Amino acid sequence: DASDLLRNSLLQLSKQEKIRDVIEKAPVSRSVVKRFVPGADRADVVGAASEIAASGRRSTIDYLGEDTTDLAQARHTRDAYVSLLTALRDEGLTEGGTVEVSLKLSALGQALPGDGNAIALDHAREICELARQAGTTVTLDMEDHTTTDLTLDALRELRADFPTVGAVLQAYLYRTEADCRDLAHAGSRVRLCKGAYKEPESVAFQSGAEVDKSYVRCLKILMQGEGYPMVASHDPRLIEIAGALAGQAGRDPRSFEYQMLYGIRPEEQKRIADRGDQMRVYIPYGQEWYGYLMRRMAEKPANVMFFLRGVATK
Ligand code: FDA
Repeated sequence: DASDLLRNSLLQLSKQEKIRDVIEKAPVSRSVVKRFVPGADRADVVGAASEIAASGRRSTIDYLGEDTTDLAQARHTRDAYVSLLTALRDEGLTEGGTVEVSLKLSALGQALPGDGNAIALDHAREICELARQAGTTVTLDMEDHTTTDLTLDALRELRADFPTVGAVLQAYLYRTEADCRDLAHAGSRVRLCKGAYKEPESVAFQSGAEVDKSYVRCLKILMQGEGYPMVASHDPRLIEIAGALAGQAGRDPRSFEYQMLYGIRPEEQKRIADRGDQMRVYIPYGQEWYGYLMRRMAEKPANVMFFLRGVATK
């Protein structure tokens, strides 16, 4: 239907560099972007994370960047995480995992020619070490399906040394139910989301209804398992089902958490935290907001209008 068409066009557009250059350079962008990205600098995100912590919510911070094709950029990303974790620790925000970090292996060098995978893993290891010293955790974001196996392999390697590292599984992939079974063991942290990339029919459900059904099947496995499920969705139906499944499984509210994105349904985020459940907000920051924002547009056509209105009024 029309919204699927728009969604696919936006995800295609997000890959086109010329368009990216024009939009990214437009001075207007910043104010429009601000709803979803608190800022480009570390101070902006540390401020946002403190405010969120003050309202009883936790957070996970993502330094924006993906598909890195040069080593200097991959190192820059690692350095950004190192400075970020240091600043968060100094502010007392990392204790007990109040604020953790989310990493994209592609931003740490996974796609570099030759030993990109090993480079990304080394970078991730350095970040995990610092996170451990600061008393917090790391979660590996999941990117498109061509990287799922690599990312799950990296997860296993990292967990050997840092057993609290978590992963993301995407309900739109056919394989995910099986991955949930593999990762529903004690000590495992799994963020379940619907999935944000444009994936072919050969690997992923295409209709919203099928993705939702898969999400529920995956949730059942995770809630009945021994791990720590992280329910990443803004979908009111899925959030309700997650609560019911947690109850049926006899789970304590501390044994799982809900997660939402910065700027999306903030009142609902607070309501869930206020009723005594755990809520973690995913906060992206940095200059490289383009791919992230295009995926947010693709999820909700109304956001495109919000964005275009911002462009038109500048
Ligand atoms: P859905 O898109 O069906 O939205 C349900 C309702 O939520 C909408 O009707 C609307 O009310 C609201 N909503 C959703 N998106 C909105 C938006 N952009 N703007 C305004 N309102 C919106 N994906 C991935 O592939 N890899 C990853 O690592 C992650 N990581 C991740 C972390 C966290 C904490 C979250 C919340 C999400 C991700 N995602 C992700 C993104 C995820 O796959 C998915 O694309 C989005 O969460 C949107 O799906 P929903 O489950 O919210 O449902």
